[in-house]
Amino acid sequence: MTKVVAITSEKGGVGKSTLAVHLAGAAHASNRKVLLIDEDGRVGSSLRWAARSSGLPFPVLDAGDVKPRRLADFDVVILDTEGRPRRKDLRQLAQRTDLILVPSGVSPLEVEATRELMDFLLAEDAGRKTRVVLTRVPPVGRAAEDIREDLREDGITVCNTLVRQYAAFQRAAEQGVLACDVRDPRAAAAWDDVLALSREIL
Ligand SMILES: Nc1ncnc2c1ncn2[C@@H]1O[C@H](COP(=O)(O)OP(=O)(O)O)[C@@H](O)[C@H]1O
Ligand SMILES: [Mg+2]
Repeated sequence: MTKVVAITSEKGGVGKSTLAVHLAGAAHASNRKVLLIDEDGRVGSSLRWAARSSGLPFPVLDAGDVKPRRLADFDVVILDTEGRPRRKDLRQLAQRTDLILVPSGVSPLEVEATRELMDFLLAEDAGRKTRVVLTRVPPVGRAAEDIREDLREDGITVCNTLVRQYAAFQRAAEQGVLACDVRDPRAAAAWDDVLALSREIL
């Protein structure tokens, strides 16, 4: 069975493409056949990431180039979507995916936007297949743990894994590779967060 995972968020720049590329990398590393689909027509982040090098070990395709029947060839399909989706598109996304992953930063404005998106998805009965993941989490302090608890108390499913803020993720985007392949003293720590998240949700 193919597992289709969409990554979406109410705001842009929260880390969707970073997670999409790295979750695909983690799935590949655990020997699963994975396809990353770029559905962000405007920015095309995952596609641009892949185009910066030949360093991604899995296929990245534009949504327009994917035949729906082909999805069955893969164990995992990851959809990198555009930020601030229209409600109509979100409803469709909920119908055609097994899991919706909503990355969120920990600033009050980002958490607020994430709550709005979750309110909609819960009302649509898509709450069961939706999970928030806190990302770009500052390496020090416990703010993210507190936010994770607050969201859970409000009935929102939040991943245990916190994806921390590491320069290695930014370097990876610049170089078109995965964080585990950049020369950075904390590259392994960044990759560990990705592996933990993939074990939790894939
Ligand atoms: N965990 C992280 N640590 C450090 N920088 C990050 C992290 N996640 C994302 N970023 C950076 O934040 C910016 C936006 O990330 P991106 O994945 O492109 O977001 P989106 O796809 O939601 O617009 C990029 O510069 C990216 O390198
Ligand atoms: Mg993006």
